[in-house]
Amino acid sequence: MQSANICVVGVGYVGLIQAVGLASFGLKVTCVDLDARKIAMLEKGIPPIFEEGLEEALREVIARGRVTFTTEIAAAGDCDLFFVAVGTPTSERTGNARLDYLDAAVSGIAAIARPEAVIAVKSTVPIGTCARLQARLDRDFAGKHLEIVSNPEFLREGTALNDFFNPERIVIGGNSEAARDKVRQSYAAFEDRGVPMIVSDTSTSETIKYAANAFLATKVTFINEISDLVETVGGDIDQVARGIGLDSRIGPQFLKAGPGYGGSCFPKDTLALATIGRRHGVQQQIVETVIRINDSRRFHILKRIESAMGDKLAGKRVAVLGLAFKANTDDVRDSPAVDIVHALLEEGAEVRSFDPVAKLSVDHRCYRQCESIAAACEGASAVLVATEWGEFRSFDFASVEPLVERRYIFDMRRVVDITAAWVPRWDIERIGSPLMRATGEAS
Ligand code: UGA
Repeated sequence: MQSANICVVGVGYVGLIQAVGLASFGLKVTCVDLDARKIAMLEKGIPPIFEEGLEEALREVIARGRVTFTTEIAAAGDCDLFFVAVGTPTSERTGNARLDYLDAAVSGIAAIARPEAVIAVKSTVPIGTCARLQARLDRDFAGKHLEIVSNPEFLREGTALNDFFNPERIVIGGNSEAARDKVRQSYAAFEDRGVPMIVSDTSTSETIKYAANAFLATKVTFINEISDLVETVGGDIDQVARGIGLDSRIGPQFLKAGPGYGGSCFPKDTLALATIGRRHGVQQQIVETVIRINDSRRFHILKRIESAMGDKLAGKRVAVLGLAFKANTDDVRDSPAVDIVHALLEEGAEVRSFDPVAKLSVDHRCYRQCESIAAACEGASAVLVATEWGEFRSFDFASVEPLVERRYIFDMRRVVDITAAWVPRWDIERIGSPLMRATGEAS
């Protein structure tokens, strides 16, 4: 395969998967990150994040000598293609994506890069950012003819490696054909397999990323509203979702009702898109509504729990099962579960949580993270299932009946097995179904 020497700057979720993925194709990749602790772990083959299959894949490419780790960008002086995957967190002040890490990374690269090098931006950036970066490079590094390309990422936490190796499309936005081709060549293995390549200008490519995440966030929010309706009028939201999702114009994915979307992408990217729209005088009304509905959803869930507990949370113990923003990740950023833990503590409840992977340190005398589901359930007046981990699906709640104060489950993820023998002995409230009251001892 014809290829460039590649450098990945910023080895968080996106950068690390990109580096390991490209190295698995036989490309030589230099990874640069300012975080010396992270680099030291990676050199030993330890990923700083929990991601299925990543450790094995990382060790394999290290053993083959295809990937190196460093804190010094100067070590990448012989590279001619740089992927930048640094964070673009939301600015609390403006709601915009913060670009200081990206700006610093691009300046660092430009200073050491050889002429004609290409800098591909994988970080999610406001529309117009790549054009602005290009103008800066043309001004400050005119003799080098460096090119900026937008190359957004669509992988999901929890299935990131699989998503890398099985992309549904690759988006490459750039104003120079030679630069776009250089990025395209690094994905030759996908192109050979017929993966569609969307080749565009930078602004189209940047818009695709925001529009994709905003559309998916809208889909989730839509099914959540229908789910609220189903709880009141009766029915089953999973069947409604299946019934509409089998229409190929709608599609079955992202129709799982729950506590609202969270994580490090949807909340940040919907907010950024709304801010971009307002700044350009083209208000994104659908996205703004989605943000508002999603933000209030956690509060409404808390109110429901409160009312099920006799409007009094103070002094009561609540078990929260799951802390991660979704299953198969240890990420608790903008997790509905975490917000609910904090809200319960504010209301004076005592919270015991359990998550098979995620950790949450809360400095509060009424909070404890437990090592098992049973320990979290001890003395609980309510058991909240907040993340769809597989082990909650198969858990036999009969085993904690002697431990709980009250047999009440609030299932925000619809994972609890409602066909189990113990179910008639519990009050079960599920997102997207009417309340199931305990009917007695027999199943
Ligand atoms: C999301 C996108 O799916 C990726 O394509 C994108 O690359 C990534 O953001 C990003 O921009 O970096 P991710 O944040 O890992 O990926 O998580 P998702 O699986 O998309 O879930 C997002 C949120 O929606 C979670 O809170 C999840 O629980 C919720 N969700 C998702 C639902 O409530 N219902 C669904 O049916 C699907």
